[in-house]
Amino acid sequence: MLSSLLVLSLLSSVLQPALAVTIDTEGLPDTGLDTSSWTAGVLPPLEDIWDLNDMQIAAKNVLSGKYYASYRTAALNEYTYQANLGIYSKVRLNGFGFRDVSNLQTSTTILGYNFSQPFFIAPAANAGHANKTAEKSLASAAGKAGILYVPSISSTLSIETIAKAGVKGQVMFHQEYIWSNTSQVIDELDRIKAAGFKAIFLTVDNTGINGIRTRSMRYTDGSETGHSANFDLNSLAAFRNLTTLPIVPKGIKTWQDAKTCLELGFPAIYVSNHGGRVLDGVPTAVEILMDIRKNAPEVFAGMEVYADGGVRRGTDALILLALGARAVGLGRPPMFANIWGEEGVSRLISLFAQEMATSMQLMGVADVSQLNTSYHSDALAWSLGPNT
Ligand SMILES: Cc1cc2nc3c(=O)[nH]c(=O)nc-3n(C[C@H](O)[C@H](O)[C@H](O)COP(=O)(O)O)c2cc1C
Ligand SMILES: *[C@@H]1O[C@H](CO)[C@@H](O)[C@H](O)[C@H]1NC(C)=O
Ligand SMILES: *[C@@H]1O[C@H](CO)[C@@H](O)[C@H](O)[C@H]1NC(C)=O
Ligand SMILES: *[C@@H]1O[C@H](CO)[C@@H](O)[C@H](O)[C@H]1NC(C)=O
Ligand SMILES: *[C@@H]1O[C@H](CO)[C@@H](O)[C@H](O)[C@H]1NC(C)=O
Ligand SMILES: *[C@@H]1O[C@H](CO)[C@@H](O)[C@H](O)[C@H]1NC(C)=O
Repeated sequence: MLSSLLVLSLLSSVLQPALAVTIDTEGLPDTGLDTSSWTAGVLPPLEDIWDLNDMQIAAKNVLSGKYYASYRTAALNEYTYQANLGIYSKVRLNGFGFRDVSNLQTSTTILGYNFSQPFFIAPAANAGHANKTAEKSLASAAGKAGILYVPSISSTLSIETIAKAGVKGQVMFHQEYIWSNTSQVIDELDRIKAAGFKAIFLTVDNTGINGIRTRSMRYTDGSETGHSANFDLNSLAAFRNLTTLPIVPKGIKTWQDAKTCLELGFPAIYVSNHGGRVLDGVPTAVEILMDIRKNAPEVFAGMEVYADGGVRRGTDALILLALGARAVGLGRPPMFANIWGEEGVSRLISLFAQEMATSMQLMGVADVSQLNTSYHSDALAWSLGPNT
């Protein structure tokens, strides 16, 4: 009796080897992703993946809890992280008829360099947690698609290795942090320039410290950063003397700081709340861009403005572009897509480009340079409240 039960249970485990995996999708929009044929811990087929959120769920299925948390984490209650994802559902886009959209143009320039798309791969540390190809697959997928990649100074691979991973003639920028060790800053800026990177995204929002990221602190304490806590306007002036590369302050969260950067003659700013990983409670890119439009509109005429945070759909990017951003960054999605290496990152780029092009065409926009606030419904101000 006992042995026949054992045989039965053995048989059924052979007949159903891969029990359907159930993955908590964290409230992401339900677009019908079916994970019932997936095996926990195993890379699902890329053919199952139809949007950027699918890639996050796939990464959650494959990566260890620790590594998934390191990418997904955000500060404190993650209000800003959630607001980043949610804000785009509150903004309405106008779709105009009676326009010739037979010849779509998505290419643009960023700091004067040509790129095929107005979106780029934002700096994100430790790509090697997703795949052994680490930043190499991000660089080559970006290069083949003609889009910008900006590696993090906290990358898995060295500055020089990433520089060589791209395609011939590929233009990349590089992110840098404000280390309290000035020799380290000088050394890295020299190496970034020597390796051929064309600009520096200088992250100014970790003012000596990281946000408290509870979700990842359960695995590791990430509080020691080596970042400078006394980086003021004098330090900024001194920093600008350390390199001849153009510098773009990243992590601008107020119209006042945007205006200061304009007055100091920076060629561009990067509006970002660091994917909600730094100060919880700060506004989203949509709200910051609207604040700048209201209080310091001269910023948009005087310099290039890039933006990021929660961008997961082509329409999210179009919303930021219509509010005055020239280019839009993707942070977590390329890190998740990298579980398949270059192939995953390439699929992400083409899915996202397709969403953008399709939505542009449906909005009556033939060229990304035409995007302006006329593409936002007047309902925008109403839905975001009296301050906007
Ligand atoms: C895993 C991870 C690592 C990051 N590392 C850096 C970094 O080293 N330097 C930096 O300036 N920003 C870093 N960021 C912030 C991104 O550049 C970007 O601002 C943010 O991820 C955009 O939000 P999104 O992830 O919702 O697209 C990181 C973000 C993530 C998710
Ligand atoms: C950028 O594109 C423009 C317009 O297509 C072209 O005239 C210019 O030569 C290109 N510049 C570079 C550096 O490729
Ligand atoms: C500062 O940076 C330099 C150059 O990278 C390095 O040689 C030195 O050990 C660092 N000093 C400290 C105190 O970490
Ligand atoms: C930066 O360099 C310029 C020109 O060499 C010099 O006049 C200025 O004092 C320097 N500024 C700082 C803060 O080092
Ligand atoms: C990494 O990417 C490669 C393709 O470059 C892929 O074959 C491999 O399965 C991926 N996963 C890991 C864990 O390296
Ligand atoms: C916005 O773009 C549309 C279409 O390109 C144009 O007709 C309109 O004049 C622009 N509006 C503003 C305020 O620039």
